[in-house]
Amino acid sequence: MAPVAIDIASRPGENPTSSAPLKANLPLPVMSHSTLPAQWMFDEPIFELEKRAIFSKVWLLTSHTSHFSKPGDYVSGNYVFDYFIIRDRDNNYQAFHNVCRHRAHPVVTKSEGSSLVVGCKYHGWSYNPKGELVKAPKFDTVEGFDKSANGLFKVHTHVTEQGFIFLNYDSSATPVPFEDHFSQLPAEWKDTDFSEYEPFYQRQAIGNFNWKTMTDGYQECYHCTIAHPGFAQSLDLKQYTVEPLSNSARHYAPKKSNPEEMQRFTFVFPTNGVTVTPEMWYIMRTCPLSATKTRMEFDVFRRKGVPQEVLDENRKFFTQVQQEDFDLCEKTQRGLSSGIYNTGILHPREENGVLYYQGRVLDYCKTHLEKERHLGEAIYPARPLSQPDGEAPRCEADKICTELESSLSW
Ligand code: FES
Ligand SMILES: [Fe+2]
Repeated sequence: MAPVAIDIASRPGENPTSSAPLKANLPLPVMSHSTLPAQWMFDEPIFELEKRAIFSKVWLLTSHTSHFSKPGDYVSGNYVFDYFIIRDRDNNYQAFHNVCRHRAHPVVTKSEGSSLVVGCKYHGWSYNPKGELVKAPKFDTVEGFDKSANGLFKVHTHVTEQGFIFLNYDSSATPVPFEDHFSQLPAEWKDTDFSEYEPFYQRQAIGNFNWKTMTDGYQECYHCTIAHPGFAQSLDLKQYTVEPLSNSARHYAPKKSNPEEMQRFTFVFPTNGVTVTPEMWYIMRTCPLSATKTRMEFDVFRRKGVPQEVLDENRKFFTQVQQEDFDLCEKTQRGLSSGIYNTGILHPREENGVLYYQGRVLDYCKTHLEKERHLGEAIYPARPLSQPDGEAPRCEADKICTELESSLSW
């Protein structure tokens, strides 16, 4: 679908890349920032633009190497697009769109498994962990059929020293370099030995809210004393601080039980949170499904040897906080979608993290839309280039799509 005309205006005082950390002891800046307009929280064309401008181009925190122990191990999922990650015979992590090159059935259908050949369960095409097509039943007699031109669509991967697996759907050979995009992020986790933890459990819940409704809440703790009474008992929220980093943010607050000890949370643009405690750690993935539907995923790891009752207590605590956020988002979305509310004022210190990440969203969308306007058509960075319709003259059916797009949208 081609993009529709979207009016993206900067917000007053907007400077999305320069939100400096605002510590509790600094004077408050002048109030000058508002939220993104509510339309950004329910409008499908805006969501389609975000998919092209953000989710198809940036590095997405998707998994951790703790889920893999040997070659052939894989995990699959959906993070805007269906993907799977598999460890190859050289112990490298390969990722692919989970779409068979024959007729688009998923290649793997389980959320995790192990196999050095993955076979599509529709017509039996099979691929090795490098994504090469190794078997296409009965096609060996088809003249001109080229197995090597029908490998899986590759997704870029980056694995950090701490084992975090990032994907980038950009189909070009040169996505934004990970180190440029997240110049400060890996250092945030350098003090934790993640090999001391092992997979504990995974949980999902589908909510009726925009992905940014949840991320807005994640990026501030202004709401915590009101909405998270249990959480408020465990941390000194007066000192809760959010420091924007490069496409990420450091959150921290002293523990009430030991003010010397900081509880830290890490926001990873656009939709992830990482929480590390001595007993367990988890990735929170906020996976957009539509403009008003989002799947929350919690991928939880426990420290080896921690007694079960301690883990149960931690699990209960975090699940409670997560559920409170989930309920806030479903209720808030009603107001955002109501057509009554447009924008609200952000507190310059308490909500600086919201300002920062919303600024990044706006920045990505504006830049991408400018390119599309210049070109006169939508740009889909995740769309693989090596498809027959990209190389051969467009067929009649393709022409019809193009004509419809241009007459309806531009
Ligand atoms: S769709 Fe996969 S083998 Fe036909
Ligand atoms: Fe919250």
